[in-house]
Amino acid sequence: MKKIHISPISGCIKKITVQGDKSISHRAVIIGSLAKGITKIYNFLEAEDTLNTVKIYKQMGVRIEKKGAIYSLHGNGLFSLHEPKDELYVGNSGTAIRLTLGVLAAQSFRASITGDAQIVKRPMDRVIKPLSEMGARFESNNGFAPVIVYGGSLKGIKYKLEIPSAQVKSAIILAALHANGPTEIIEDIKSRDHTERMLKHFGAKIKINNGKIIVTPGGFKANTVYVPGDISSAAYFIAAGSILKNSELTVLDVGLNPTRTGIIDVLKKMGAKINIKNKKIKNNEPLGNIVIRSSKLKGITIKGSIIPRVIDEIPIISIVAAFANGRTIISDAEELRVKETDRIFTIVRNLRRLGVKVEERKDGMIIYGNGGKPFKYVDIDSFGDHRIAMAFSIAALVSDNGLLIKDIECVNTSFPGFFDIIRELKK
Ligand code: S3P
Repeated sequence: MKKIHISPISGCIKKITVQGDKSISHRAVIIGSLAKGITKIYNFLEAEDTLNTVKIYKQMGVRIEKKGAIYSLHGNGLFSLHEPKDELYVGNSGTAIRLTLGVLAAQSFRASITGDAQIVKRPMDRVIKPLSEMGARFESNNGFAPVIVYGGSLKGIKYKLEIPSAQVKSAIILAALHANGPTEIIEDIKSRDHTERMLKHFGAKIKINNGKIIVTPGGFKANTVYVPGDISSAAYFIAAGSILKNSELTVLDVGLNPTRTGIIDVLKKMGAKINIKNKKIKNNEPLGNIVIRSSKLKGITIKGSIIPRVIDEIPIISIVAAFANGRTIISDAEELRVKETDRIFTIVRNLRRLGVKVEERKDGMIIYGNGGKPFKYVDIDSFGDHRIAMAFSIAALVSDNGLLIKDIECVNTSFPGFFDIIRELKK
């Protein structure tokens, strides 16, 4: 198991870029595989999760090539995928498995899909339930992977999402494109909408109205996708810029989809000095530069409809909260219990090692900020969770003697360039 000692820095003025958005990269491969014609993807995230998605769509007969930095997918339209010879393996990726379950539900062949030791502990019944209502049949390990899918002709359904999950929503949308009638999905709390935006960009028939998503089945043509920088990766450096002294960090060309910008709203509410510059739109997704300066931070309450907009950023928010003045309350976030790790447990455990007072709650935690005192040297166990490893690496930058972060290979699932940027900040 690899580990890294990250030492503190006194401050930093830099412009950086982060790698491409993971959610959009997955969707570009999946939607491009279902489109007719050649889809070109620029700035595709080459991380373990997204490369596993490339691999499984290749296994289903899609020609995917890389020339220079550009990925080209040769899609043959809906119903053109082939039966894979072997089991599909998604590695660590919840997005790859859940969205692909939606695609497999509509195929006339049988396929088996699974992933690594963390994936087989994450619930798949949340997608199996609506996809079964549409007419697909599944065999699973009591609602967990491996899942065998017997797909076939699907009917359109009306479905109210029980949890605000973009993966569940997207699985239903992808299946619905293949159904024999329209599907209506009702979402009370909006989760990330990259699938809806990308399908519109590709010309699929999808309408969004007042929390209702209506998908009319039918194929669509290939298109070009430019993947913006991942705001969930930028989040570590936005946080770093706010807690470091004498600093100004600019993260260039970051995706600013409003369903993902909760981290900016939360940090601003905590007192962070953040500005957005050069806002533009590419393939139906907003992006821009995020500028962040050293800030005086205070604790806040984070709950309710903002939670899906910060769900992947709670680990790094917990570090900022630990360094802020006063108490931060996080609630309505029980979904954290079924992420790559039980993130309520893994955050609380590691914050306590840092000497931070924290109370664990069923659906979140209360963090008592230390008012900006440097963290004392300890070792941190990532528990094999990329976002825990990265969040606590940022804590090391404001420690007195650094931190030892253990089990760091997991960072490659979403952000292989992470430690290079950390080194860059130190120059
Ligand atoms: C994702 C949706 C979220 C998020 C995950 C990526 C996506 O998961 O946590 O990292 O790309 O759709 P849920 O849909 O389970 O909330």
